Amino acid sequence: MFSKILKWAGIVVLGLIVVLVIAFGVFSFLFNQHANKQYAIDVREIEIPTDSATIAAGAHLFTIKGCAHCHGTDLGGKVFVDDPPIGRFAGSNLTYGKGGLPASFDNKAWLTAMRHGVSPAGKTLMLMPSPDFVKLSDQDIGAIIAYCKAQPKVDRPTIPFKVGPMGKVLSVLGKVPLFPAEEIDHTYKQPADVVKSATAEYGEYLSVSCIGCHKPSLKGGDNPIPGGVPVANITSTGHVGKWSEDGFITALRTGKTPEGKQLKNEDMPWGMTAQYTDVELKALYLYLKNL
Ligand code: HEC
Ligand code: HEC
Repeated sequence: MFSKILKWAGIVVLGLIVVLVIAFGVFSFLFNQHANKQYAIDVREIEIPTDSATIAAGAHLFTIKGCAHCHGTDLGGKVFVDDPPIGRFAGSNLTYGKGGLPASFDNKAWLTAMRHGVSPAGKTLMLMPSPDFVKLSDQDIGAIIAYCKAQPKVDRPTIPFKVGPMGKVLSVLGKVPLFPAEEIDHTYKQPADVVKSATAEYGEYLSVSCIGCHKPSLKGGDNPIPGGVPVANITSTGHVGKWSEDGFITALRTGKTPEGKQLKNEDMPWGMTAQYTDVELKALYLYLKNL
């Protein structure tokens, strides 16, 4: 009797293992299909300036768009997620030093990466948040590229991007935005320039940096980072609707909200929003307060 139960238990466990192996095989197959899809992109080329005013504007954009979080402040590349089930995600070395970009990585390659999320091999880049940069004007994207290209070479090998089993499952299910090229409207025509003043319109332009976490509605919800705290509603129907402009600016510069809550930089990256100019924060406030 007992050995019969053991036998059946063994069959059930074995059956479960077989089902898991098959399910993982299916996810790996689907993952590879996403990762290896070829994109034939018609990149609109623009001139990349080299003057010092543009490079300075690019330095500010590099900071407020959070590039350093994944590529390092020296642009030499950096691991930003290291969790065996999810994966080891590292931003590449964006300089032309050893282990960095090849000399063949020209302006067209920069624009293809930044605006289309596509690598020189024609595949999607992994996790690079290009969908957040698609709407940047020609002047702004040109300034970011100008700044990056003007930085000194860093000799540091780019750490290979590795996706763990859980990362494959979550990305195929669309829970982790691993395939930026799939999310982009590749025909979008960017404006040459935008007016940078404290208007709701400019706030909307800047809010693209918030929607990756706060969702396109800016009403928040689940955290895109597995295990992260829920993301707040930052429209007029959330706390922001009751905040003064000063309260909003203080919250985004110090993490301290008018309700007295101290936001953690790991949850809400106020270390990044602290670098925004007054005009940028005022514009964001006007936009969110009226949303
Ligand atoms: C959330 C992390 C993250 C942020 C923020 C980010 N990147 Fe990336 N970026 C990556 C990763 C990861 C890769 C490598 C993807 C790959 O190898 O498939 C990458 C690749 C690139 C590439 C292509 C390089 C190559 O080797 O083909 C460029 C160019 C680039 N990023 C520029 C930028 C700039 C400029 C910014 C800020 C405006 C930025 N990135 C912000 C994660 C990020
Ligand atoms: C990396 C993800 C991420 C990004 C990017 C991000 N936020 Fe947040 N934000 C959060 C999370 C998570 C919370 C909730 C933190 C908590 O509850 O402790 C939050 C909270 C806030 C709050 C406080 C809301 C309240 O009710 O107390 C404000 C205001 C805010 N974010 C504004 C912004 C703005 C403006 C941007 C874009 C410039 C932005 N955030 C970008 C993740 C993000």
